[in-house]
Amino acid sequence: METGYTVDQLRAAATDAIRAPSMHNVQPWRFRLRDGGIEVLLDPTRRLPATDPSGWGARIAGGAALFNLRLALAVAGIPAKVRLRPYPAEPDVLARLVPDLPQRPSPAEQNLYAAIPRRFSNRAPFWPEPVPADSRWRLGEAARAEHCWLELLIGVSAVNAFAEIARSAHRVLERDPAYRAEREAWVRARPEPDGVPVTASGPRAESQDLLPSRDFGGTQRLPGRDFEPEPLVAVLGSAGNTAVDQVVAGQALQRVLLTATEAGLSVSLLSQPIEVPSAREQIRVSLGRFGTPQMVMRIGYGQPGRPTPRRPVSEVLDLPVYPTDGSRDGRRLTGEQVRR
Ligand SMILES: Cc1cc2nc3c(=O)[nH]c(=O)nc-3n(C[C@H](O)[C@H](O)[C@H](O)COP(=O)(O)O)c2cc1C
Repeated sequence: METGYTVDQLRAAATDAIRAPSMHNVQPWRFRLRDGGIEVLLDPTRRLPATDPSGWGARIAGGAALFNLRLALAVAGIPAKVRLRPYPAEPDVLARLVPDLPQRPSPAEQNLYAAIPRRFSNRAPFWPEPVPADSRWRLGEAARAEHCWLELLIGVSAVNAFAEIARSAHRVLERDPAYRAEREAWVRARPEPDGVPVTASGPRAESQDLLPSRDFGGTQRLPGRDFEPEPLVAVLGSAGNTAVDQVVAGQALQRVLLTATEAGLSVSLLSQPIEVPSAREQIRVSLGRFGTPQMVMRIGYGQPGRPTPRRPVSEVLDLPVYPTDGSRDGRRLTGEQVRR
């Protein structure tokens, strides 16, 4: 018989889950307790119809939140068995987690968990120091542990060829007024619980930049503070490109990001060439890989920065309502708690 997670466990793990990255920081997730299992759902009111018409980006973000949730439960000693997209009739339910046998967390899990609040997208130029071989290897292992692959682009010509594909995808996207309007609508001049703060946007793009950057209202850069001329670019890919593959890729993305954070590395995400199907295919062919590229990352040693805001966890929890004495999960929910 399943014992089930409690509301307190759901709330604690969801607090870590919502630190995951999401396109334009829309935070497209919800979490609920159903029959003792924690479920991760997409929030239909937080879609980006022009930027993410297929829902790929939302599923990547949901997968990343799922990874944090798994990690939080594992570190709490109550690891989860996970079923992805458990109800075919409810495609917005990305995953259902039920308690596995209680187990003490490993040091590796504890270290990754400690990286959750420190991770953030660093869009500023990185220092020229190369990423050491052992860190590169660990990033690849992180992707493989989550059933994905990570290809690091080696050599100036590989990076230049990729950059050309990425710049042209960026131009294609920027031609669409609805895409531009959506991006602008999520830029935040003052701190708010969602959207991309201008302070996190990195410097405004300039013509000499190798890689395209999304314009989140960045500031003029200081003289001599150009982007690194030979960035470390990594492409994360999954075996296929079904909705489940995308949730798997989101989990792998978060594992790679936390592994990078733990290694003292900064990462910025670059998804324009993933969002344009022909560019994505060009990248796949140029890598000679089977499967589907799901995300591109620029990785290096960055200046310190700070994590971006999130909505309060209470806004993304669907708490169960028990009609009678309501004590099923070890605590009675008051009307006030249910509303929160
Ligand atoms: C699917 C996906 C695509 C993203 N694409 C980009 C991108 O092209 N450029 C960018 O600067 N950030 C991109 N991001 C990062 C988000 O903007 C970022 O996660 C969000 O603003 C929250 O900030 P944080 O990562 O610092 O927590 C992407 C994130 C996800 C999940």
